[in-house]
Amino acid sequence: MKIEIPAIEGGTPVRDTFLSFHQALLGEEEEASVIQTLRSGWLTTGPKTKQFEAEFARYANAEHAVAVNSCTAALHLSLIAAEIGEGDEVITTPMTFCATANVIVQVRATPVFVDVDPVTLNIDVNKIEEKITLKTKAIMPVHYAGCPCEMDAILEIARKHNLLVIEDAAHATETEYHGKKVGSIGDMTAFSFYATKNLTTAEGGMLTTNSKELEERVRIFALHGMSKDAWKRYSPEGYQHYQVLYPGYKYNMADIQASLGLCQLAKIEGFLKVRQKYVAAYDNAFKDMDAIIRIGRIPDIKHAEHLYVIMVKTEMLNASRDMILSCLQKENIGVSVHFQSLHLQPYYRQQFGFSEGAFPVTEYAGERILSLPLYPGLKEQDVDDVIKAVRKVVGYYRQ
Ligand SMILES: Cc1ncc(COP(=O)(O)O)c(C=O)c1O
Repeated sequence: MKIEIPAIEGGTPVRDTFLSFHQALLGEEEEASVIQTLRSGWLTTGPKTKQFEAEFARYANAEHAVAVNSCTAALHLSLIAAEIGEGDEVITTPMTFCATANVIVQVRATPVFVDVDPVTLNIDVNKIEEKITLKTKAIMPVHYAGCPCEMDAILEIARKHNLLVIEDAAHATETEYHGKKVGSIGDMTAFSFYATKNLTTAEGGMLTTNSKELEERVRIFALHGMSKDAWKRYSPEGYQHYQVLYPGYKYNMADIQASLGLCQLAKIEGFLKVRQKYVAAYDNAFKDMDAIIRIGRIPDIKHAEHLYVIMVKTEMLNASRDMILSCLQKENIGVSVHFQSLHLQPYYRQQFGFSEGAFPVTEYAGERILSLPLYPGLKEQDVDDVIKAVRKVVGYYRQ
């Protein structure tokens, strides 16, 4: 087989033009919906947000949904609503975006990391119980890339030790675990509608719960701790005063965002079908490559296919993961990393004394994983180009 020279070494790139790592797919429906909201005279939290909450709750099979301005806000509010604070511990993993652990620190609790499973990069349920202490208040599993965590085991541990389960479902809007929709499983679940997510409102998030009490607390804390939001205060029934019940936050979603979200929610399963087709193409193209491990391919679940993550076995290559990333960029393929080990970031090292060796599976993956483009706006030719570039670059550096 002819070995092609990567563009970084002077060869010709696979593509002439750069393929973005992600691009949101917004259509005429989104444009019309946003314009309708702009012309309605009500821009911030109002009827569109209420409708989006109701439709999202139905989609997630949850009793309540509270729309907020990010998943980070939803995670933060979940801890506040659960009265988790100083002296408490929350269990999560270091294979996540910083927001998951940052919010734990922000409420003055301590993030307690548990290493991940090498197949899914989700929390290793066999290692949770050894980290539980009298201070542990909650488990915060992250459904990495859209693959569900082992929720049966997590719920059993939580029940046994009287802990809350707060799910970080930033990647997992469509995910199902053993036929159960993520959003209907734990005590509270936080979703992200950030620009690169499967459903986007530019910035945005949602918290779902089956507890009326938690929903009410989250709703009040999401808007300054006030007893009534503006939409209700200015209702046709006459002016109503609000009361400040807590020093709350400013985390509410605007109707402009919700009008995007409603359109995107209607398209979400169609978008997923397109991504599933591209995932099958990637899986098929890389299955004979011994230096590539495909992450999160497990049976009997519904994967949201938010990210297509591969792990390059750098011990079999004459290149580091970062070199492979640079090569792919030079081939005009946008790539990303989800994630580097969070416990080795400067703040977490300094504050909690973490160093190399603390979480070996996370660290091994953190230096080898990379994410390839996966979104419904990709053309089949784009996917072929990504495949060609990965095979070319990894093939070239294979020892
Ligand atoms: C695992 C995870 N959790 C939380 C977040 C935070 O989401 P947001 O940007 O909506 O606050 C992200 C964002 O990418 C994420 O990947």
